[in-house]
Amino acid sequence: MNFKKTILITGGAGFIGSHVVRKLVKKYSEYHIVNLDKLTYAGNLNNLHDIVDKPNYSFIQLDICNEQGLKDLFNQFSFDGVIHLAAESHVDRSITNPKEFVLTNVVGTLNLLNECKLKWDDLDDKCFYHISTDEVYGSLGEEGYFEETNSYDPRSPYSASKASSDHLVRAYGHTYNVPVKISNCSNNYGSFQFPEKLIPLIINNIKNKKPLPIYGKGENVRDWLWVEDHANAIDLIYHKGRVGETYNIGGHNEWQNIDLVNLLCDIMDRKLGNPDGESRKLITYVKDRAGHDLRYAIDASKIENELGFKPSVKFEEGLENTVDWYLNNNNWLNDVTSGNYQHYYDNHYN
Ligand code: NAD
Ligand code: DAU
Repeated sequence: MNFKKTILITGGAGFIGSHVVRKLVKKYSEYHIVNLDKLTYAGNLNNLHDIVDKPNYSFIQLDICNEQGLKDLFNQFSFDGVIHLAAESHVDRSITNPKEFVLTNVVGTLNLLNECKLKWDDLDDKCFYHISTDEVYGSLGEEGYFEETNSYDPRSPYSASKASSDHLVRAYGHTYNVPVKISNCSNNYGSFQFPEKLIPLIINNIKNKKPLPIYGKGENVRDWLWVEDHANAIDLIYHKGRVGETYNIGGHNEWQNIDLVNLLCDIMDRKLGNPDGESRKLITYVKDRAGHDLRYAIDASKIENELGFKPSVKFEEGLENTVDWYLNNNNWLNDVTSGNYQHYYDNHYN
C-alpha cells in the first residue's frame, strides 16, 4: 500500500504508547504506523487487540539497545517521524535496578537519535518527538508550578535517565539539526496501565482484599491526567508543535495520595456493593520511597495558548471509567500479574 507517511512509535505496547498507537492508526489511515516494542513485563500486545488487523499498522519486536536491529529497521522503512515512548517507567524499579534505566532510557534514545541523524538527509517534515516526564524538574514545595524554562533537577534514577535523554534529544537538535520536539507530562491514569503504578495497584489490591500500601504519610501530591488526553496532546504536538520546543502537559488536577486512595476506596465499595468504609480498612502506611518527591504540578499555559490543548475528561469521571475498565477486564489483569510482577511485588512489599 502507498502511505503518505511512515511513523515509528516506540513503546507502543505499553500503557501510554498503546493509546497513542490506537489513536493514530484510527485517525490517520493514510499513515503507516510501525510499533516497535521489546515487550518487557510492561509491554503487552493485548493492549492493541482492537487494531492489530488494520492495514496501516505493523508491529516489530525489538530492543532499542540493539543497534544492528535498529539499523536494519531504518533500512527497511523510510521513517518520516519517530514518536519515542519506549522506556523503563517505574520509579521504584529504578531505585532497585538503575542500570536498566540508563541502558533503555539513555543509550536506547541515543541509538534512535543516531539512526535519524544518519538517515534524514532531507530534514523537511521530519520529526523526532521524545515523550518525557515532569519528574525531570525535581520536586515542588507547597507552592509553584513546573514551567518549560525551569532548570532540570532530577532526583531518582528514573528521572535522571529521562533528563539525560531529554538533554541528548536537545543536543542532537542543536548539533546535528535533527528536528526534535519534547513534551514533559504529569501522571497519567486510565486503561491498560500496569498495576504497579498507584491507581491500578490500589484497584487490583482492593479487588483481591490485599493491603493498600501508602508510602510515608500519603501527603505527596501528583497532578493526574487522563491517558487519552495525553494521547491527544501528543497528536497535537507531533503535528502542530514547533520544532526545537518543549511543551509541558498536565491535568490541572492535584491530589494528595491519601485523598486519592480514599476516593478510590469509596468508588470501589460502591461498585462492589461493600459496606461503606470497607476498603479504607485495607490502607497500610509503609516505609517511604527513597528520595520521594513531594509534589509535582504543571503550568500547562504554553500548550494551551499555542496549541489550544485542554484536558477533556474530569477526574472523577475518568476515575470511575478506569475502575470500571479494571473490573471488566479480569483476563487482562490476571494475564499481566501472572508473570514476574508477582515476584517483584512480593519482594518489594513483604
Ligand atoms: P510503560 O512502562 O507502560 O511502557 C513502556 C513500553 O516500553 C513497554 O511496552 C515496554 O515493553 C517498552 N520498552 C521498555 N524497554 C524497551 C526497550 N529497551 N526497547 C523497546 N521497547 C522497550 O510506560 P508508560 O507509562 O506507558 O510510559 C511511556 C513513556 O511516557 C515513557 O517514556 C515515560 O517515561 C513517559 N511518561 C509516562 C508517564 C506516566 O504517568 N506513565 C508520564 C509522563 C511521561
Ligand atoms: O509524573 C510523571 C511520572 O508519573 C511518570 O514519568 C512515571 O513514569 C510514572 O510512573 C509516574 O511516577 P510516580 O512515581 O509519580 O507514579 P507512581 O504511580 O509510582 O506513584 C504515584 C504516587 O503514589 C507517588 O507519590 C508514590 C505513591 N505510591 C506509589 C505506589 C506504587 C504509594 O504511596 N504507594 C504505592 O504502592
